[in-house]
Amino acid sequence: MTAFDLLVGPIGALVTCASDRPRRGEDMRELPVVANGAVGISAGRIAFAGGYDEVCDAEARERLDASSATVIPGFVDAHTHIPFLGDRSHELVMRFEGRSYMEIGQSGGGILSTMRNVRVSSGEELLKAARKCAGRILRHGVTSFEGKSGYGLDLDNETKQLQVLKQLEKEGPQKVVSTCLSAHFVPPEFKQKRDKYVELVTEEILPRVAREGLAGFVDVFCENGAFTVGESRAILEKGIELGLGAKIHADEIEDCGGAALAAELSCRSAEHLLKAGDEGIEMMAGKNVVATLLPGTAFFLRKPFAPARKFIEKGCTVAVASDLNPGSSYTFNMLGVLTLSVFGMGLFPEEAVWASTLNAAYALGIEKEAGSIEPGKRADLVVLDVPNPLHLFYPFGEDPVRAVVASGKVAWRRS
Ligand code: NIG
Ligand code: FE
Repeated sequence: MTAFDLLVGPIGALVTCASDRPRRGEDMRELPVVANGAVGISAGRIAFAGGYDEVCDAEARERLDASSATVIPGFVDAHTHIPFLGDRSHELVMRFEGRSYMEIGQSGGGILSTMRNVRVSSGEELLKAARKCAGRILRHGVTSFEGKSGYGLDLDNETKQLQVLKQLEKEGPQKVVSTCLSAHFVPPEFKQKRDKYVELVTEEILPRVAREGLAGFVDVFCENGAFTVGESRAILEKGIELGLGAKIHADEIEDCGGAALAAELSCRSAEHLLKAGDEGIEMMAGKNVVATLLPGTAFFLRKPFAPARKFIEKGCTVAVASDLNPGSSYTFNMLGVLTLSVFGMGLFPEEAVWASTLNAAYALGIEKEAGSIEPGKRADLVVLDVPNPLHLFYPFGEDPVRAVVASGKVAWRRS
């Protein structure tokens, strides 16, 4: 047995999430667990995952004891709006006073208020804020995440956001996947000529993003008040033509056909889906579109949760993500989001684990690298002070994260 850089073990319960496919339907109820397990890490990758007895005598430069703990793959947060700046806590009060999320957005607050903050900040300031966010979610076990543009809403500021994400990916230790969401909102200077904004996105921003390799995905906020189905189709088709994967913010506030559009275009994923109807859900299942559900947003906006059980019953691959952003879901706590997915959306605890690890990796197209503890993958895992995965939810509201290993290094440890 070769020497490991890091040996995690013994582990009370090692949840590997090893699987050659995303988990759907009944298969989401079964979690692969090794009792008295161990994970051996070399050069940032998993070299061994299995029983502790097999490697207890192996040489290791560093050891991390996880006896009586549960170890799971590092969380993959498949939907965040990092990078952003600024405080929108006052919008909370406005919503409690009865104004809707969209009303606040239409009157110059919401997304446009974050846009103003992003536009006046330098790349360095934005990077600093993004690093802070990445650190806050890392400490809660997120070792891979997606980030988006969408608060720049012009060529320079959209690329500024995407360059920040590129830099974060370079710095590590987290894996960062970038998405171009220039079609997040029509900026004020295009209010009277929205077709010109769609043209800017399809003819200038997306071609530049593709040419410079600034993002792997294109995304659109398809919603009454943001972008119509027709505009969304044009933008996503352009992104696909340029070689990007496609994602869509769909049926968040109203059922306006976003889920069906996601199926029509064979998007990698559709997100939110609070109001998605049966037909749209069936179409998504038929086209293998991942349903990325964001229970933090429903909770924060005090809306009914997405019909998660329906997505599972109809055979969709279901992922759960934070939607971390300053307006509709301001949380850095992935386990908190999973708690909402269980108690609010009705996922079983095992389903919530698949949804935030391997299935989420599929949503980002990084399933060969992340999402499970298997030899050859990035060495990303979370050590949790609970005897088994069920206890992640049984004493709810606790913080059981003991340590986080990202890219083979102990990146955070409870002091
Ligand atoms: O996914 N729905 C659109 N966009 C974000 C919110 C962005 C914001 O309010 O700043 C979301 O919820
Ligand atoms: Fe979002």
